[in-house]
Amino acid sequence: MLKGRHLLDPMDFSLEEIEEILNLGEKISKNPEKFSKACQGKILATLFYEPSTRTRFSFEAAMLRLGGQVIGFSEPNSSSVAKGESIADTIRTIACYADIAVIRHPKEGAPRVAAMYSKIPVINAGDGGHQHPTQTLTDLLTIKSLKGRLSNLTIGLCGDLKFGRTVHSLIKAMSRYKDNKFILISPKELRVPDYIKREVLQKNNIEFLEVERIEDVIEKLDILYMTRVQRERFFNEEEYLRLKDSYILDNSKLKNAKEDMIILHPLPRVNEIAVEVDEDKRAKYFEQAKYGMFVRMALIIKLLGVEEC
Ligand code: NCD
Repeated sequence: MLKGRHLLDPMDFSLEEIEEILNLGEKISKNPEKFSKACQGKILATLFYEPSTRTRFSFEAAMLRLGGQVIGFSEPNSSSVAKGESIADTIRTIACYADIAVIRHPKEGAPRVAAMYSKIPVINAGDGGHQHPTQTLTDLLTIKSLKGRLSNLTIGLCGDLKFGRTVHSLIKAMSRYKDNKFILISPKELRVPDYIKREVLQKNNIEFLEVERIEDVIEKLDILYMTRVQRERFFNEEEYLRLKDSYILDNSKLKNAKEDMIILHPLPRVNEIAVEVDEDKRAKYFEQAKYGMFVRMALIIKLLGVEEC
C-alpha cells in the first residue's frame, strides 16, 4: 500500500511497488487525458530550497494535469525560511494546507527530518549530494520504455559520480535488478563514494569497474548516463574549474558505441554533451525529461491513494 507513504530514498519502496508506479506511469503516458480529474480538490506543495527546472516544473505540471492545484516556493527567501524558521516547523504548517509535499534542499537528510514531522506524504526531490529518488523513477521508466527491460544491462555512469545524487540513487535502484553491471567513468577526484561501493555494489556482489576514459569502454555500454560536474558542492572553485570539462561527449567519442545504446542525462547539461549529439538517434535525454512528468503523475496518485481515473 503506497497511500500516505513518504519517498525519501530509492529503497523505500519494494520492487513490486516500483513496478506498480512504473506501470501506471506508462499507462498515463499513453493517455494522459484520462487522468485529468484524478486529483481534483487536492493540493501539492513544492518547497524548493535549491534551484530546479525539470523536477519542480514536472511535479507542478503533473499535479495540474491530474486536475489538482499547486502552492509553494522556489525561492526560500520569499517565505519564513528567511526569518529563520526550521524545516520541522515549515512542514507542520504546510501540512495544514496541502495534501502532499515535495522538498528539495541543499542539506543531506533535510527531507527526512521534514517527514518525521509531517502528517502528509513527503517526497525528496534531491537532498544535497545524497539522493534523488524521483529522478530515479524517471530514469527507470525511461529505461524500461526504451530498452524494454531493467535487468541484464551494462550501465556506464560518467562525470561527477561523487556529488551527483542522481547517480547514487540510480546505482541503488538498478542494483536490485538481475545481471546489471556498472562502469563508473570519472576522474579520480570524483569517484562514487565508498559507502555506495561498499554497501550497495560489493555487498550485493555486483560487477563494477572504475575507469577514467569513455573511449575505453563505450562499446560495452547499453546505457550511457552523463552527468554535470556539481559546481555548487565543491569546496574550492579552482578544483571545479580544473575538473569541469573532464568529459565532453561528442560524435567522435560515440564512434564505437552500440547502435541501440541510449544516452541519458538528468539535465541540466553544461558542457558534457556537445549539442551535435542531440541529433544522434541514441540521444534520449529530452525524452527522459518527459517521462519524468508521467512517472510523477503516477507517484502522486499512488501516495494520495486517489482513484486512478
Ligand atoms: C539533477 C539534480 O538536481 O540533482 N537535476 C535534476 O533534477 N534533473 C542533476 C543536476 O543538477 O546536475
